[in-house]
Amino acid sequence: MEFKSVGIKGLGYYVPEKVMTNFDFEKIIDTSDEWIRTRTGIEERRFAAVDQATSDLCVEAAKKALDRANMTVEDLDLILVATCTPDYLVQATACLVQHKLGGKNIPCFDLNAACSGFIYGLTVANGMIKGGVYKNILVIGAETLSRIIDMQDRNTCILFGDGAAAAVVGEVEEGYGILSTYLGAEGEDDDILRTPAGGTKKPNDAQTIENRENFVKMKGQDVFKFAVHALPNATKNALNTADVSANDLTMIFPHQANVRIIESAAKRIHVPIEKFYMNLQKFGNTSSASVGLALGEALEKGLVKKGDLIALTGFGAGLTYGSIIMRWTY
Ligand code: ACO
Repeated sequence: MEFKSVGIKGLGYYVPEKVMTNFDFEKIIDTSDEWIRTRTGIEERRFAAVDQATSDLCVEAAKKALDRANMTVEDLDLILVATCTPDYLVQATACLVQHKLGGKNIPCFDLNAACSGFIYGLTVANGMIKGGVYKNILVIGAETLSRIIDMQDRNTCILFGDGAAAAVVGEVEEGYGILSTYLGAEGEDDDILRTPAGGTKKPNDAQTIENRENFVKMKGQDVFKFAVHALPNATKNALNTADVSANDLTMIFPHQANVRIIESAAKRIHVPIEKFYMNLQKFGNTSSASVGLALGEALEKGLVKKGDLIALTGFGAGLTYGSIIMRWTY
């Protein structure tokens, strides 16, 4: 059976206006611009305004993606939002996005694969379109991480930022689009990276709030150790399935967590670091939005052209990981 070629027909991204620099953090916690830059590469990140929630960031990115694809909300068959910072625990953020875009009766759901979310979302959309379930799917990766970070915890709060990236996924010219996908997860019930309270396991109460368990907690070194293997392994697996070599890639869009993790991945897959697009300096780690945000900015700068072979690759809480190889569509 011949499957159709599926790819991104329009991509858009959005970051909130408010810039939080490393120097701003120096005023709040015991840290320094020098420490943050040398350990992570991050110089600044964006924080959402008080009246902005994840769905608002999604809508801004979605409008740009739809414009680029020359489509309207009526052309969509499904809206899928990848996020670990939804507007509400109950009621999918994707439903709110549908309403704010003026859509009616479009199926909607959220997906939580943390920082691998955009890659997971694109993979789901690819499968559904190839399988003939839907024609056009809006995939959004978006986060308002500023709402779940502990501004007293210097180990985590300096890493994260807010943003959104949206892709209209549909049938594209033969030979273009998604060539292969690879997803994985290691779901051990440990506390490497999670928000301990506020879910069904430990609902928030006065004690959890006092312990600051309503904020995200991370064992940075454990995540680091996981990431330096997961990132190159996921990329290699997707390259093998697509039957292309790392040398053929024009550019790689990794999850924007830490410049040292990306440098290590570059060595492991023997690709020059210059091919790894990075904008974590400006936006920090935006989890589900990060890979799309990087691709969106590179497109805006004219760094990716029709026919270029690119890889998206990420890892995140779960622990999840994944990679996609695609031949760029426009
Ligand atoms: N400013 C100054 N000092 C700090 C800061 C800070 N912001 N944060 C930690 N330190 C201190 C620590 O307290 C420690 O001090 P000590 O030696 O007196 O105890 C020292 O710096 C070293 O701390 P480490 O944790 O060993 O620092 P490390 O070099 O491992 O860097 C970091 C920490 C940047 C978090 C690193 O481990 C990392 O990047 N890990 C991966 C994190 C990641 O990618 N997370 C996101 C992925 S998943 C997702 O995105 C949802």
